[in-house]
Amino acid sequence: MDERTPTLHIENLTTGYAGVPVVRGIDLDVYEGEVVSLLGPNGAGKTTTLITVSGLLPTLGGSVQLFGQQADSRSPHKNARLGLAHVAEDRSLFFDLTVAENLRLGLTGNKPDRDAGMDLAVEFFPALGPLMGRIAGLLSGGEQQMLAVARALVSQPKLLLIDEMSLGLAPIIVERMLPTVRDIADRTGCAVLLVEQHIHMALGISDRAYVMNHGEMVLSGDAADLAGRRDLLEASYLGEAAL
Ligand SMILES: Nc1ncnc2c1ncn2[C@@H]1O[C@H](COP(=O)(O)OP(=O)(O)OP(=O)(O)O)[C@@H](O)[C@H]1O
Ligand SMILES: [Mg+2]
Repeated sequence: MDERTPTLHIENLTTGYAGVPVVRGIDLDVYEGEVVSLLGPNGAGKTTTLITVSGLLPTLGGSVQLFGQQADSRSPHKNARLGLAHVAEDRSLFFDLTVAENLRLGLTGNKPDRDAGMDLAVEFFPALGPLMGRIAGLLSGGEQQMLAVARALVSQPKLLLIDEMSLGLAPIIVERMLPTVRDIADRTGCAVLLVEQHIHMALGISDRAYVMNHGEMVLSGDAADLAGRRDLLEASYLGEAAL
């Protein structure tokens, strides 16, 4: 039993759309400085879980605690002010704005140290430095993904949710970007919850992992242990019955 207060504590969470549950009774914790992967096949409920944590989708049961307090399940802005940043599946960039303008939109509230947030983003993604004046729509897919994560860093988050960083990217680009995620957690203490289709790459930079299937949590454990248990992972992707 870990004595620390988790950065994110999800307990018996049920959530879904228009009152219909698609995620049922899941538990999950992420601690300061940890990278935790949330894995599972298409339609498992990973994105639904992240948007519920963000406050974009109300819970149907159970609870979400952020930084030791109850999250507001209807206010993404309030959760963002507390220190949550969410890189959504679609990256949500403003394609006709420049890189610098997109980054400035990541600033939340009236933080006195706005420059520190911008510096942090460029520190972790130095490749964006020379691209500040470039229109975001003209960036490559990999550069756009860097910008999406960098924009989340501008708010100096304590919890970073990243949904499918690799969507539409070549595996080699993902392989280069994931260590940066590890670095962010190690050097800033930010807790990271990472949804990723490249299972083994994700496990390679994670401390722990959870696997969902059909809206339920079917497996969890130490990332290194799970990486060595291909049989268990495969069974968890096929469904609970196979476990
Ligand atoms: N807006 C919505 N309204 C109703 N059902 C939805 C909505 N969005 C998703 N769902 C359903 O909820 C379930 C979980 O979807 P979710 O997007 O959370 O899965 P996922 O694990 O993120 O999958 P993927 O790996 O494909 O991104 C699916 O059955 C999906 O069809
Ligand atoms: Mg998804």
